[in-house]
Amino acid sequence: MRDQVSVLFTEEQIARRVAELGEEITRSFGSREICVLALMKGSLVFMSDLIRRIPLDLTVHLVRVTSQRGQAAGRVLTEIVYSTSVALEGKHVLLVGDIVDTGITLSYLLAHIHEHAPASLRVCALVDKPEARKIDVHPDWTAFPVHEPMADRFLVGYGLDWMERFRGLPFIGTIPRPAPR
Ligand code: IMP
Ligand code: MG
Repeated sequence: MRDQVSVLFTEEQIARRVAELGEEITRSFGSREICVLALMKGSLVFMSDLIRRIPLDLTVHLVRVTSQRGQAAGRVLTEIVYSTSVALEGKHVLLVGDIVDTGITLSYLLAHIHEHAPASLRVCALVDKPEARKIDVHPDWTAFPVHEPMADRFLVGYGLDWMERFRGLPFIGTIPRPAPR
């Protein structure tokens, strides 16, 4: 399995970057309690490493979103299909995501979370592919920005999947972009 994957970010690079992000996020939240909302399933590995680098009071919640993207007129149907119960009102929410690509998933989730009136809402993404954006959204923190021509490859590992495979790889790698299904 691994021989199909070229390493893009090693375990050591990831660990170093996650530690840096943990420090930045900790500084930025001060002594406030954080409500971590992790986007399933892709961000689970990243979130579990990141929260151990944030020595503040925090709670962890999960949310899962599906997007069905029709070819016709770029029609997109995004919906929340699973969420652990959490009252977001008045909370300092840190949304942890895997990849921000077109931005459709993130913008949908931000709008949904804002409806629940959190005290603040910030986003930390594992990977940002800014050139792929269709909706103008930006994470507050990004572990790894990935630009062209690498953004054209499909990222797997460290929680990221291709058809549910590769999530357990300890590094982030690339496979040639699979044909659209
Ligand atoms: P967006 O809504 O287009 O921004 O897509 C975000 C979602 O697509 C992410 O949460 C990922 O699950 C998935 N995704 C986008 N690019 C990749 C990739 O290169 N590898 C794995 N998943 C990806
Ligand atoms: Mg996926």
